[in-house]
Amino acid sequence: ETLRTVAAARNLRVGAAVNDRALETDNGYRDKLKYEFNSVTPENAMKWGNVEPEPGVHTWAKADAVVSFAQENNQMVRGHTLVWHGGLPTWVSDGSLSDQELRAALQRHVETTVKRYAGRVAVWDVVNEVLAEDGTLRQSIWLRRLGPGYIADAFRWARAADPSAKLYINDYNAEWNNPKRAGLYNLVRDLRAQGVPIDGVGFQTHAMIKESASEPLPLTQLRSTLQLFAGLGVDVAVTELDVRLKLPVDESRLAAQGEVYRRAAEACLAVARCVSLTMWSLTDRYSWVPSSVPGWGAAHPLDENLAKKPAYLRLRSGLKDR
Ligand code: G3I
Repeated sequence: ETLRTVAAARNLRVGAAVNDRALETDNGYRDKLKYEFNSVTPENAMKWGNVEPEPGVHTWAKADAVVSFAQENNQMVRGHTLVWHGGLPTWVSDGSLSDQELRAALQRHVETTVKRYAGRVAVWDVVNEVLAEDGTLRQSIWLRRLGPGYIADAFRWARAADPSAKLYINDYNAEWNNPKRAGLYNLVRDLRAQGVPIDGVGFQTHAMIKESASEPLPLTQLRSTLQLFAGLGVDVAVTELDVRLKLPVDESRLAAQGEVYRRAAEACLAVARCVSLTMWSLTDRYSWVPSSVPGWGAAHPLDENLAKKPAYLRLRSGLKDR
């Protein structure tokens, strides 16, 4: 049994972020991706800076490779991500464009990208991380230069470019009851009320095991949060699940991590509108964590040798239990 077979039996998409270099060079990695998952998300390959490094010069090869792999292996693709303050090409982020030029460039980027993959990318993270921790809109290049209407615009451009794609807003630290979750809830509610074409809400779900064993494990409110947003009439998804550990790794931390993975699977399964559960890397061999969060790592279901950790086993059993 694999994650893929147990998820498919529950009508759920289980996915992984794809490291484009590993996809090219690592056979063992490719096999895991193929057998364990029925959904993939390019970890970086579709970010604007990677697909249009110079204005009008498109470099689709790495994104195409992920999409072709998915087609060969009958996997869904979650496109990530169209509008973000990160991963931008220098010609966009360096402030050289006027407001009008910037807006035109963003529209062109959304339309070109969505049209290219129409029919092949089923779901788009249209806007990513647009909220600040206090629940107000993030002070990003997009808010400052285009005003708050950029969010509704992006969804409308994406819908027109591929009417069949499901369009998501995606964010982190909104998995529990806090001001950011309230801001996200109000934003989605208002966008829906205005007829903006938004189909789903993605919860990134980057979790960690706290240093002290006396701290409660995270994700206790994931299920109720998914349910809350489903009440707005949208799909929900866990889009970037990982559970980082304070290094060094020890058995009790690995066990706690396994419990958190199981919890995430159970939460998604318990909510009818939770349609997919994606890991932000399947393996510790390729991980954004150690370089971005020094002193932390081992965040993923497979270890550096692609062997199954307790996290994998608990995740798989969480996808089976009722
Ligand atoms: O490809 C270059 C390589 O040529 C160069 O030698 C190297 C030196 O720094 O950089 C490489 O690019 C890096 C890329 O990852 C591939 O490893 C970028 O610098 C680095 O910024 C990039 O980090 C990614 C990050 O987003 C920023 O785009 C992470 O892999 C990726 O996991 C992370 O993913 C984000 C989601 O998109 C949104 N939610 C949070 C999540 C984690 O931060």
